[in-house]
Amino acid sequence: MYQNRLFNRTRIQLTSFYAVVIGLITLFNGYAIHRVMLQTFERTVDRELNTLAGTVHDTLEAVLQQPEVISPVAMKVLPGLCIVGGECSPTRADSKLGELTQKQGYCLRLLNLNGQEIASLGGAKHKFAAEIPKLKQVTITDDRGERYHVHTLPLKTSDERDWGYLQVAQSYQLLDEYMQSLHLLLIFGIPLAMLIIGGASWWLSGLAMQPIYQSYQQIQQFTADAAHELRTPLAVTRVAVESALDPAVIESETRTNLEIAQRQVHHLTRLAEDLLWLSRLEAKQLPIHQKPCCLNDLVSDLEEELAPLAMAAEIDLQIEILVKEPIYVMGDIDRLYRAISNLITNAIQYTPAAGMVAIHLEYLENTAIITVRDNGIGIAPADLPHIFDRFYRVQVDRSRATGGTGLGLAIVKAIVQTHQGTIQVSSKLGTGSIFTVKLPAK
Ligand SMILES: Nc1ncnc2c1ncn2[C@@H]1O[C@H](COP(=O)(O)OP(=O)(O)OP(=O)(O)O)[C@@H](O)[C@H]1O
Ligand SMILES: [Mg+2]
Repeated sequence: MYQNRLFNRTRIQLTSFYAVVIGLITLFNGYAIHRVMLQTFERTVDRELNTLAGTVHDTLEAVLQQPEVISPVAMKVLPGLCIVGGECSPTRADSKLGELTQKQGYCLRLLNLNGQEIASLGGAKHKFAAEIPKLKQVTITDDRGERYHVHTLPLKTSDERDWGYLQVAQSYQLLDEYMQSLHLLLIFGIPLAMLIIGGASWWLSGLAMQPIYQSYQQIQQFTADAAHELRTPLAVTRVAVESALDPAVIESETRTNLEIAQRQVHHLTRLAEDLLWLSRLEAKQLPIHQKPCCLNDLVSDLEEELAPLAMAAEIDLQIEILVKEPIYVMGDIDRLYRAISNLITNAIQYTPAAGMVAIHLEYLENTAIITVRDNGIGIAPADLPHIFDRFYRVQVDRSRATGGTGLGLAIVKAIVQTHQGTIQVSSKLGTGSIFTVKLPAK
């Protein structure tokens, strides 16, 4: 896309920077979501185990009589409880405990005072280490590597003697399976996401650099154009001055040469002034003298001033003011004068003898419309989009003959834009052109 090495390098740097920053943000977000989900799951399990352990503990303590002995009443209270190497109490369809152990992975164990299992209920199919966890709540792993979150509570008999321990556990199998698939997703997803982020960053940095690249190209074009514009008058001046200094050249020729040099210097001075003025106008460095400007007076003054030029070029200059009331726009009268004057001068310059140039002023919906129309040489469709560019001239030789620098229309456009107006052109080669300036008016 960019032929310039500096832009290519900057784009690569921007892409890497974007990719790293967006990648880190995405990773951090992913990690934060992962942590929050994990904690929420663990807290929920903890709360539920707490409730379950509390309920079972209180129910059992009321019916336990002998230490480490499960009474028939206790067997009844816990339907589905199986004594190690012995019988199980019958399950009941309406048992809440049965539902919790079967469907939600809870299990329950009764341990003697040494930590050995006496009876169990639910999914504890595998062996746990035979020791009492020191903490009330811990996560332990069974002999198959399955993780359980366990609450352990000491049990007492109804007459306050130590009976043993109650353990209530919830399997982390579901969570672990879920985390495993999440990790797989991350392992394969992160490189893919980085690839997509890299592509998007490349595209975004290209998008961000486009206006900078365009203005860079414009500056390059401008420098080339300016150098080209300066070269011809400077070369002509040099030849003229060298001839004037040549002692072999006769005096009358010397004078002619100096006149040529003077014309070229005049042309260069005008070019430099126009350029400076245009760049200051675009950089908004020129003071604006905002005042109500009467366009009717402006057009009449221009007619008076440019009539001799039109007459010399044998052009019929017509002015038509289509409103009775004066039209005012807020702005700088000198600049507006310069803009419309440039348009009329162009119309006269680019219309052959015996042609016509007409200026119209009208008012429509809070807008002043000034139209400069001619039946001159016209502009080809291919040139139309460029004529407001600096230094652009359609027929370079012809324009140079008229002393043009190609800055006239660029100046017009800049002035109209500083007055919040618009300029449009329609033209047909060999038939003529119409330039329409619209300005917000009272
Ligand atoms: N009314 C017109 N009819 C035909 N061609 C035009 C007309 N106005 C402008 N152009 C074309 O547009 C080009 C740019 O006009 P612009 O006024 O910017 O430059 P210029 O007239 O060549 O030089 P200057 O800076 O002295 O005005 C002209 O060179 C000319 O080819
Ligand atoms: Mg011009």
